[in-house]
Amino acid sequence: MQNLLITGGSGFIGSNFIQYILRDSGFQGRVVNVDNLTYAGNPENLTGIEDAFHNQYIFIRSDIRDLGAIRDIFQEFDIDAVCHFAAESHVDRSIMEPDAFIQTNIVGTFNLLECARIHQGQITLFHHVSTDEVFGSLGETGFFTEATAYSPNSPYSASKAASDHLVRAYFKTYGLPVTISNCSNNYGPYQFPEKLIPLMILNALEGKPLPVYGDGKNIRDWLYVKDHCIAIWEIMRHGRKGETYNIGGRNEMENIRIVEMICDNLDQMIPPEDRSSRRELITFVKDRPGHDRRYAIDCTKISNELGWTPVETFETGICKTIQWYLDHTEWVERVKTGEYQNWIKKQYG
Ligand code: NAD
Ligand code: DAU
Repeated sequence: MQNLLITGGSGFIGSNFIQYILRDSGFQGRVVNVDNLTYAGNPENLTGIEDAFHNQYIFIRSDIRDLGAIRDIFQEFDIDAVCHFAAESHVDRSIMEPDAFIQTNIVGTFNLLECARIHQGQITLFHHVSTDEVFGSLGETGFFTEATAYSPNSPYSASKAASDHLVRAYFKTYGLPVTISNCSNNYGPYQFPEKLIPLMILNALEGKPLPVYGDGKNIRDWLYVKDHCIAIWEIMRHGRKGETYNIGGRNEMENIRIVEMICDNLDQMIPPEDRSSRRELITFVKDRPGHDRRYAIDCTKISNELGWTPVETFETGICKTIQWYLDHTEWVERVKTGEYQNWIKKQYG
């Protein structure tokens, strides 16, 4: 891998991944980050990278829905590997406005695959980052394995499922060297505060209500974002082509428990002046339509084949995450006020 195209590199996981491979992994090639900077893409997530790695890092504001633009990028930068993060990623938004999910997640992935196919001789890897939500919902027992049938329940997960199928089809039909990863819920630095954990941290700090959907007993399998990045890099270097790998944190938790832990941690770190508990802010609200009850990943395959296991426990990961949001008040402020969007407009029009 000499010229690695990373899509969606200015979002939550993509920016953590770029930080990881440039700062920690020893990767010597060039990273071409293609991101069209939606509300979820924030150049500030990569502050310092352009300066520290000016020979290795290039940012291009471009849209994966634009086949011509992506074709030019493959050509101009001699792309020989792809790690594809770019997506509309928020389930609630997909319920309100599914259109962008179809266009970016399905058509955008198709465009990237087509460009990779055109340059097939030089493409050594197309890695597709996907989600455990493609498998639908579990009952009280059992785990998602790589053999679990797809059964997506939201427009978001259906669009990701479609993109996974396209990637697999390009391997079977054209022999494109692909790998796919299906990961559970991530949390950590730079996550946009529409997702459960950062939303609860920031609302709790401001004394705002903490909206818990339904009875709060839905279960997710939480993974610290750096552990996800390490797993993706392992798959990219050592995974078998044409294979999918499940990635999970072995950290099943009910939503309500997560929110209580955030409240308790914050109460310890910054005791409320009136000695009340932030748990009092918890407010049960109307459930998400089609809300999946439980996700849990069996990550035996990646663990046996590639020796990957998560480093962080939920207890260590959540402390680091809360501390990160406390230490990055300027980032938080610019995201909350939308000021980062003004900066993008000034910079890129
Ligand atoms: P995110 O919403 O934080 O970031 C998405 C990035 O993609 C943003 O920078 C955005 O600007 C960019 N993007 C969106 N549409 C684009 C387009 N048309 N062209 C170019 N760039 C575009 O998402 P995330 O949480 O970092 O997720 C990244 C990937 O990982 C997604 O594919 C998601 O499905 C998958 N995933 C996420 C999680 C999770 O818990 N967050 C778990 C498993 C898998
Ligand atoms: O499982 C992987 C998926 O995890 C990724 O593919 C998605 O991109 C990512 O957004 C995430 O999806 P979820 O829907 O699980 O994440 P979210 O943070 O939106 O919600 C987590 C759980 O918390 C879910 O059961 C809904 C609940 N929730 C969420 C919000 C935002 C609440 O109870 N209240 C809230 O305000």
